[in-house]
Amino acid sequence: MTGANGQIGRVLTHALREQHGQQNVIASDIVQVADDNEPYLFLDILNETRLYEIVEDYQITQVYHLAAILSASGEWNPLKTWNINLNGLLTILNLAKDGKINRVFFPSTIAVFGKTTPRVNTPQDVPLVPETIYGVSKVSGELLCHYYHQKYGVDVRSVRYPGIIGYQSVPHGGTTDYAVEIFHSVLTGEAYKCFLAPDTYLPMMYISDAIRATLELMSAPSESIKTRTSYNLSAMSFSPAEIYAEIKKIIPAAEIEYEPDFRQEIAASWTESIDDSAARTDWNWQPEYDLEKMVRDMIEKISDQMRG
Ligand code: SER
Repeated sequence: MTGANGQIGRVLTHALREQHGQQNVIASDIVQVADDNEPYLFLDILNETRLYEIVEDYQITQVYHLAAILSASGEWNPLKTWNINLNGLLTILNLAKDGKINRVFFPSTIAVFGKTTPRVNTPQDVPLVPETIYGVSKVSGELLCHYYHQKYGVDVRSVRYPGIIGYQSVPHGGTTDYAVEIFHSVLTGEAYKCFLAPDTYLPMMYISDAIRATLELMSAPSESIKTRTSYNLSAMSFSPAEIYAEIKKIIPAAEIEYEPDFRQEIAASWTESIDDSAARTDWNWQPEYDLEKMVRDMIEKISDQMRG
């Protein structure tokens, strides 16, 4: 696992260890990971030699390549974002091409969409002209995955994650982060300052659905994976006003203030809802959590964490 300290990486590492055994999943990241994340290796994803060494030393068979800079942070340093998001992936695809590993997971995102993409019920195959460097790097990554599959038979699999909401970790540097931050603010009795406008609809997904989708995609028979760019993946769509209203049903004292910043523009360039029928047909994808069920679970789990 690269990017094992990220919002998804932490939870996915844990889920894979439950399946394959603690010692059989190596977490890696460029920051020190919490003690409970052993076995852990420090890894700069741009260090190609070290990546080849790790794969050989630990006899790695599959790589979940989660290391990336997200949409909002990416805009502060576009060249660095391109470099990290693309060159890390290239090394991993080459490891697969060279026969050193046999399967790769590459996370793509709703950030691949842009203003020329149909906004509602966005189909699988659409124009991908994103406005952020993060989106540009992920579209390019999808194309590289497709190319390596067609040309070299590399078994690389990918989904376009919606905004991910989870209680286990807090996201950093993304545009959909608000939908996690809001829970932590209201549960500590603070008014949440939302950086998106109240009516900004985005596709979202609860973390347990996102993890299950990843595990199901990665264990599906190779011949059922027909899309080798990246699969649309959907569960729910809502706006800040709607998630706030849902939270308020359980925490009547919850308060929100709106102070949209540059992330509003990013969110407005993405789409509102997703058609994921290809994933449903090819590998039987089915989400479990809608807005109501997700909000209830988030409040329960974060409250438990706060009680220690
Ligand atoms: N959650 C991501 C972001 O906001 C989208 O992939 O950048």
